[in-house]
Amino acid sequence: MLILGLQGSPRVKGNTGILLSTFLTEVERLGARTEYLDVAKKNISPCLECEVCEQTGFCPIDDDMQEVYPLLRQADIIVMATPIFFYGVTAQLKALIDRSQALWSRRYVLGLTDPGRKWRRGFLLAVGATKGKNLFEGVNLTAKYFFDAVGASFDGSLAYKQIEGAGDIAKHPTALEDAKERAKALVPPFLDRKKVLFVCTENACRSQMASAFAQFHAGDRIEAISAGSTPAKEINKLMIEVMGEKNIDMAFREPKTIEAVVASHGKPDLIISMGCGDVCPLFPDVPNEEWELEDPAGKPISLMREIRDDIEKKVLELIASF
Ligand SMILES: Cc1cc2nc3c(=O)[nH]c(=O)nc-3n(C[C@H](O)[C@H](O)[C@H](O)COP(=O)(O)O)c2cc1C
Repeated sequence: MLILGLQGSPRVKGNTGILLSTFLTEVERLGARTEYLDVAKKNISPCLECEVCEQTGFCPIDDDMQEVYPLLRQADIIVMATPIFFYGVTAQLKALIDRSQALWSRRYVLGLTDPGRKWRRGFLLAVGATKGKNLFEGVNLTAKYFFDAVGASFDGSLAYKQIEGAGDIAKHPTALEDAKERAKALVPPFLDRKKVLFVCTENACRSQMASAFAQFHAGDRIEAISAGSTPAKEINKLMIEVMGEKNIDMAFREPKTIEAVVASHGKPDLIISMGCGDVCPLFPDVPNEEWELEDPAGKPISLMREIRDDIEKKVLELIASF
């Protein structure tokens, strides 16, 4: 599983960074993978409201945000961490949030569903110097709509008032322990999932569809991953189209090697091969299944649809068998 931490403070050794690091260190200790994104160090321009994403589903601004979209899609939990700047989030974090409009457009304008949407969770960490009653109102609202745009349920927050000097959060009587406790509560359901690796030669078509359906239908019980023995450069465009006919959003995915996937996700509990036989090197000690599916790459769209439906049926049978 992946936990993505968005660190919104520009201050070196600041309070937000300390709080987020404490949270992420705890989840790593529990066995989760983490990505700590120092948003202020990234080159992320504000949204230009050019409306291109409403037509294409993609933002045309070529900057570091292009690396962030796939991370937002891969993450099981997104932790948004920010100091209060004028009752809101920092400008650096706000630019990232506004650029998630592309994901909002995919969902609400283009009608596509990210297969991880039902299961992904969002959590807010915030600190501010003053003690006003409404100190966190602004960031709570921003977090609520950001998490909805990126496909995550808003699962709670930890927010601390009267934290001003760099590092003051470490002197708070409970803050760091609170962060560890919340991490301990959020992570276990994800770690208890069965890890299923779908493999085909190019990881561009069949294994991508299988992992997306498994995530869509049972992302709470299955950690669905996919890889290829000889990955293609990009996923198959016709496959993206036929999955779109079922409103499943396949954007921000790319073919990966088995080695890369195992290095990031660990050893699978089950391997399902899509019909490329001995081309896929399977772990001898891990249970495996062969689905014997024809390769639809380069064939008419009707075959792609047939294979898509076959895969969905097999995925549903697999889920029912657990
Ligand atoms: C530009 C700026 C605006 C701020 N606005 C507020 C504010 O509206 N309310 C507040 O309580 N603290 C405000 N603060 C104080 C910070 O929220 C506080 O010092 C916090 O602990 C900083 O966290 P950090 O170390 O993670 O950056 C502001 C600080 C800066 C630099």
